[in-house]
Amino acid sequence: MARCRGGGVFAAFSLSAVGVLLLNSSVVHSQLLPVVINTWPFVNANYKAVQVVLKNGSHLDAVEAGCSECEVEQCDGTVGYGGSPDEKGQTTLDAMIMDGVKRPVIDSKNHDTIGMIVIDEMGRIACGTSTNGASHKIPGRVGDSPIAGAGCYVDQDVGGAAATGDGDLMMRFLPAYQAVEGMKQGLTPTKAVLEALNRIIAYHPDFSGALIAVNVTGHYGAAYHGFSSFHYTVFNPELKNSTVINAEVY
Ligand SMILES: *[C@@H]1O[C@H](CO)[C@@H](O)[C@H](O)[C@H]1NC(C)=O
Ligand SMILES: *[C@@H]1O[C@H](CO)[C@@H](O)[C@H](O)[C@H]1NC(C)=O
Ligand SMILES: *[C@@H]1O[C@H](CO)[C@@H](O)[C@H](O)[C@H]1NC(C)=O
Repeated sequence: MARCRGGGVFAAFSLSAVGVLLLNSSVVHSQLLPVVINTWPFVNANYKAVQVVLKNGSHLDAVEAGCSECEVEQCDGTVGYGGSPDEKGQTTLDAMIMDGVKRPVIDSKNHDTIGMIVIDEMGRIACGTSTNGASHKIPGRVGDSPIAGAGCYVDQDVGGAAATGDGDLMMRFLPAYQAVEGMKQGLTPTKAVLEALNRIIAYHPDFSGALIAVNVTGHYGAAYHGFSSFHYTVFNPELKNSTVINAEVY
């Protein structure tokens, strides 16, 4: 996957399906780091990212490796090649990369993305999403949702969040950004994701989606609405391996 390491460089193209975001580093020490957390029970994607982060690879490389694994495996069949065909029957993949301290820009058009957040041992945070875009999109069109904070968001001083669900609503409510802001205001990750979801549900009670969040010390939380259940995957030194967690109903 192409990388743009110049500060604030933004690229959007239809080829590889990983959106990655990197913010500048500061050192945090926690026994719960490194942490890798992603939406859905995609253990192999999580495990792949864990291998990279434990080998002292960068948090960015880890997110990229994890999300790419989901493309290779196609995970639930909606991420990666062979997913939703566009109007010509071809599968196109949306990718967005932003590297630097400017606002993160991540696509989240599809219902079934993998969203992943990695915090390495030094506390450096990255998040990424992978999607093949909405079904029957116009061929060649780059995903029309390069919206900050919809699919995933990180703030180096606070933590990160990733969302999955109705992309149109997520674009309008920016739940990942909202969850990180909540943590910035002092909410726990769990309270932050609940609060962010509730903002959507208040206007759209039929919304289906889920949010995961992790703060800089590696504490995490998840919430969902409209799904019969929601599973996500976490690795940290306490869990010892990539572990599927059944999100509680709130
Ligand atoms: C891991 O990488 C950091 C810099 O990226 C370096 O300072 C550190 O020594 C490395 N640790 C190991 C065990 O290689
Ligand atoms: C992270 O969240 C936990 C609660 O889940 C909280 O105890 C901890 O203080 C938070 N860390 C930071 C740096 O806010
Ligand atoms: C850790 O989890 C991965 C993914 O499920 C699995 O392939 C691997 O065998 C596990 N490792 C151990 C030591 O259990």
